[in-house]
Amino acid sequence: MSTTDDIKSKIDLAEYLLEQGVQLKQAGASLKACCPFHNEKSPSFMVNRQKQVWFCFGCSKGGDLFTFVQEREGLEFSEALKLLAERAGVQLEARDPRLEGQKIRSLDALTEASAFFRRQLGQSAAATRYVTERGIAEETAERFQIGYAPDSWDTLATHLVQRGFRTQEIVDAGLASPGKRSGSIYDRFRHRLMFPIHDIHGRIVGFTGRVLEGGTTVGDAPAKYVNTPETALYKKSEVVYGLVFAKDAIRTAGYALLVEGQMDVVTSHAGGLAQTVATSGTAFTEQQLRILKRFTSRLHLAFDADAAGVSAAERGIDAALDAAFDVRVIRVPRDEHGVPIGKDPDECLRADAHRWREAVEGAVPVLDYELSRVRTQFDCTTPAGKRDAARVLVARLAHIVDPIERAAWAQRGADALDVPESALREAVAAAGRAMRTRATSNTSSATGGEQQVRQDPVERFGNRLLALLIRHPDQGKRVFESFVVDNFVTPKQQALYKTLHLGYSKQESLHGANVMDTEQRDFVERLEFFADREFGDLPTAAITSEIDQCTTQLRRHAVDKKLHDIKRRMKVLEDHAGDPHAREHMLALERAFHELADELSLLHAAT
Ligand code: UTP
Ligand code: MN
Repeated sequence: MSTTDDIKSKIDLAEYLLEQGVQLKQAGASLKACCPFHNEKSPSFMVNRQKQVWFCFGCSKGGDLFTFVQEREGLEFSEALKLLAERAGVQLEARDPRLEGQKIRSLDALTEASAFFRRQLGQSAAATRYVTERGIAEETAERFQIGYAPDSWDTLATHLVQRGFRTQEIVDAGLASPGKRSGSIYDRFRHRLMFPIHDIHGRIVGFTGRVLEGGTTVGDAPAKYVNTPETALYKKSEVVYGLVFAKDAIRTAGYALLVEGQMDVVTSHAGGLAQTVATSGTAFTEQQLRILKRFTSRLHLAFDADAAGVSAAERGIDAALDAAFDVRVIRVPRDEHGVPIGKDPDECLRADAHRWREAVEGAVPVLDYELSRVRTQFDCTTPAGKRDAARVLVARLAHIVDPIERAAWAQRGADALDVPESALREAVAAAGRAMRTRATSNTSSATGGEQQVRQDPVERFGNRLLALLIRHPDQGKRVFESFVVDNFVTPKQQALYKTLHLGYSKQESLHGANVMDTEQRDFVERLEFFADREFGDLPTAAITSEIDQCTTQLRRHAVDKKLHDIKRRMKVLEDHAGDPHAREHMLALERAFHELADELSLLHAAT
């Protein structure tokens, strides 16, 4: 048995889902629930317990236990494998046992350190006062595990050594630095308010520590924040602060709210905006965007009101557009004198939560934001002002991946600046040529998966009928004996109907028949879910009537098509009316036409 099969045999998908809060209810042979991946009122998330697979009709996602965990937790396959293996008690072979060993020791040291800092918070009057002054509730401090690193050179190191960690392990975890004396180490974080940094699994991989007033060990001009250095676990460019606590809210809100600092995240979550995450004061990196993309394609940015905040965000915007995010900007609310309410989201929220929420809800598309910005920055009544404004706009426009969207914005920009649209478009094309080729190739895969396939109604009736035939083969006799395969409109449906027909004539059950390839099996699986959802609790009479309705609709469509075809051919023959051969042909067509027309009216009468 493969490792994945082994794990699957030990963890029942339905039980796992129930445990994750997915409220499954029996529906026919399947279980159904409201989909955890999108907002909905009536359930379209289906689970087949026998096959241990799931599928959602609302968002077209589906798969097995592993795909569920990947999707839900935003994990790569290997990460999901690790997580589930641990739960199932299945041993995985470590890639590099030594490095794995070191990572595990680091994780343990960091967890121990966090618990230590957490306990210290209550011991320090300065830290307690600070937390109170900043309005951090106990509940919030507990959720984010906010702590305090004592004003000392070695309290943490000593504590960890007592707990059995070697000094090298403490240094490897990024908690201490080697001292001058050989073998000695000193604490990296001293007299600071400590924020643990969690990875996407909720494991602590590092810390960031904010300076506090006073302190004898921090020096004269201590950095405002000290972070864990790059370690085997902590990669600054990959960390999205708060994401582990924000995952669900991001899904519910449909976007991630991006801010600059830890405190902005903490206050936002406490204020009910749990979709908030931070990049820790830097423009976001490609890796961070990739991680966020697992949860959403929409980013709403809230930057600090100062110039540094704007410039950090500006850099981030281009990266986000390149990664095909739908980017919106939250405008900092201002008071009646035009002064920003607070310098960052944290301050604004605490000063006027209502205004901040209004601003969050009023996030504007990034180009609208840009447009109004350049119009205040430059005098767009003069040619030089137009040029400068257009230059800024063009630089941004060039990052928009979708050509239609780009063109639409170019048009809007041209109108707003009152310049010829063609000139703006040419400039965009010139600025973006190289960039675009690269960006387009990245994003077709990024957005492709989310596109919903709109089904043609005739195709839908075909699927319905096939689903009915699969679930209620006993009702299929009349269909199989008179319904022709050409009435289905897609090759996939036609192929499946042939398979079903074969099974019917050989009196074999569908699952006994070994003629299906993987694609057909997948198709059948979806249709089974569909049948359970649509017809799960219908009485036999209703099933028969459903079947009749489908066959009638499909026949009607087929006859319609034939009539159309005949009409076309008659038109051609009309041009050769003098030809006796053509006349004979015409008569035959007319006969066929009348027969089909009769059939059609009968079919119409049937519904
Ligand atoms: P800010 O200076 O805006 O801090 O830096 P802040 O989040 O508003 O903090 P408070 O409200 O004054 O307590 C934004 C982010 O930049 C990173 C931190 O992650 C911080 O949250 N930063 C800032 C550093 O990493 N090092 C620094 O020295 C300063
Ligand atoms: Mn702040």
